[in-house]
This record gives sequence, structure tokens and C-alpha cells, in this order.
Amino acid sequence: MTSRVVAATEGLDEAASLIKHGGLVAIPTETVYGLGANAFDPKAVSSIFHAKRRPEFDPLIVHVVDTDMLALVTSDVPEVAKALIDRFWPGPLTIVFGKSEAVPPIVTSGLETVAVRMPSHRIALELIKRAGVPIAAPSANTFGQLSPTRAEHVAEDLSSEVDLILDDGSTSFGVESTIIDVTGPMPTLLRFGAVTLEDIEETIGTVLVSTSSSSNPKAPGQLDSHYAPKTMPLRLINDSEPAIETAAYIAFSNAPKGWGHVEVLSPTGDLVEAAARLFQVLHNIDRGNFSAVYAELVPEEGIGRAINDRLKRASS
Ligand code: TXA
Ligand code: MG
Repeated sequence: MTSRVVAATEGLDEAASLIKHGGLVAIPTETVYGLGANAFDPKAVSSIFHAKRRPEFDPLIVHVVDTDMLALVTSDVPEVAKALIDRFWPGPLTIVFGKSEAVPPIVTSGLETVAVRMPSHRIALELIKRAGVPIAAPSANTFGQLSPTRAEHVAEDLSSEVDLILDDGSTSFGVESTIIDVTGPMPTLLRFGAVTLEDIEETIGTVLVSTSSSSNPKAPGQLDSHYAPKTMPLRLINDSEPAIETAAYIAFSNAPKGWGHVEVLSPTGDLVEAAARLFQVLHNIDRGNFSAVYAELVPEEGIGRAINDRLKRASS
């Protein structure tokens, strides 16, 4: 099977029908493209794991269109989650709740919790609405590889595994959703992402931050080595690295001289723009033939935390 890439608006009806009948559809969202299936259909969900070669211990995010659908998949929506939902949904914040009986164990890797988000993307929302079911969707890439921010990235990586790819151009945030767990006594941030820690703390006060897999069995998918480009190795740069003619360099805002290829994430030093370009830049470099990739970290603030997290994981 080779999947077709179609303009998102034109493919919506077919995509909804595929989802209803147990198919796999690559879906644009505001963060990265997702690989979606009916969250209530264990067989369809199992084909997501198979397509991505994803270990079954790594649970999926369930995408909903409204709070009625949220109620179907959760056992309880605590007050702190309501405050987060009011401020950030629809949008790139994933919240971990207690799960309902309706969610099959394969979605949550057997956990009693379920990760849910309401995307702020008109195609994703419309698709969930037309399919009439919550959509389980991890990022649409082979496990451990770069996340896709364009339909072409999905087509290059997973074409033979997906029934249909809905193309809506580049995603706007370019990094995955932020994940926060509200099931414990203290809200805990599990993954830095498109919604900033600063904005979350402005809304609900101080949260715990537990984003490393080694210290955090609750986020089984947060493996230290992830988001890996094929051009290996990726090294984080020290101040005084001598330029290498055969290597690619990822700069935050100022291009250094002497490297084989330089990608500047944001000439104006804008972290939001840098995040939006990060995976595209890594995909570009993968297409070149370089001995290595060197990358600068960006300021550790706002969405910069998500950029640095992805760069560190890509380098480990
Ligand atoms: O922006 C995004 O979140 C994208 C788009 C497609 O929505 N999705 C995405 O999914 O990044 P994925 O599968 O690449 O990452 C999901 C992460 C994994 O690290 C997984 O371990 C974590 O969510 N996760 C899922 N369910 C969880 C749960 N019940 N408790 C803790 N972590 C969970
Ligand atoms: Mg992923």
C-alpha cells in the first residue's frame, strides 16, 4: 500500500470515513503531523504502533473536539485542569487525566491515566468532528526519528504504512505539545512544548518539572535519545568550537563562518520562529551529506525550553 497525499480540505470526508473504519490517517495539527486512528478501536490503535515501530509501553495522546468528548475518555476533570483548559484549549497543551473505561488499554499502554488534547487546528478539529470519535495520534514519524512538520516528511518516512496523508503545509508551532499531568497532588510538567512553562505557571501557579525519562517512569515515552536526525552525530556546541568544513551548523540567530552548511533558526532571535523551523532545518540537513551536525542551544526561556529539550535528546 502506498498512501496518497491530498489537500487537507479536499480529503476530509475520506479521512473521516477511513478513521471510522479502522484506517490510519496522517493529520496536520498546529504542532506536528499526527498519525491518527479511532481511539476506541484497539485494532486500529495497534496498527499505529506497528506503523511507527513504536514500543507498546509508550502511550498515545487522544485528541478530542470538545469537552463532551473529553468527558467520554476521562474519569475526572480536576479544577486545576479546568483552569488550564479555559486558557489553553483548543491548543498545544496535552493534559494527563484519570482514564475512563471506554479507552482501551493499548492507547495508554496499560496506564490508568490518559493524555488528552484539543488541537487548535481547523482540519484536525473538523476531522474529529466528522469521524465522531476521539483520535489517538502520536507524531507521524518512525519511532525515535525526527517529528514531521510537513506532509512530505510523513510521505518520505511512513508512506507505505498510512492510508491517507492530509496536506496542510507547514505546521505553525513546529514542536510538539507541552504535557502536564494533573492526576497527582501537584501538577507536573512531563514534556516541554509549544505552551510555555511561564504561561502555565501564570495560570495555575508553580508546577513540578519532571521531563527526563530516567527520573520519571510516568512519561515512558520521554526517552533521552529521541528526535534523531540521520546525519549523525548531532553535537551541542561549546563557545570555542573550530569550524569544520564538512559539517552542518545550526545557529540560533547569527551565522558563524567556515562551516560546510549553516542554518539560522531565527535571524531576529525570535524563539517562536526558531521553534517553528527546528525540525524543518533538521530534515534539510538530513538531505545533505554532512559528516556531523553541530547545534547551539537557545535561551532557556519560553518555547526555547522545548527547542533545547529536542536538541539535547537529538544529541544523546
Ligand atoms: O503535539 C503533539 O503532542 C503531537 C500531535 C500529533 O498531537 N503528538 C505527539 O505524540 O507528540 P507522541 O506520541 O510523539 O508523544 C506523546 C507523549 C509520549 O512521550 C508519551 O509517553 C506521553 O505523550 N504520554 C502519553 N500518554 C501518557 C500518559 N498517560 N502519561 C504520561 N505520558 C503520556
Ligand atoms: Mg513523537
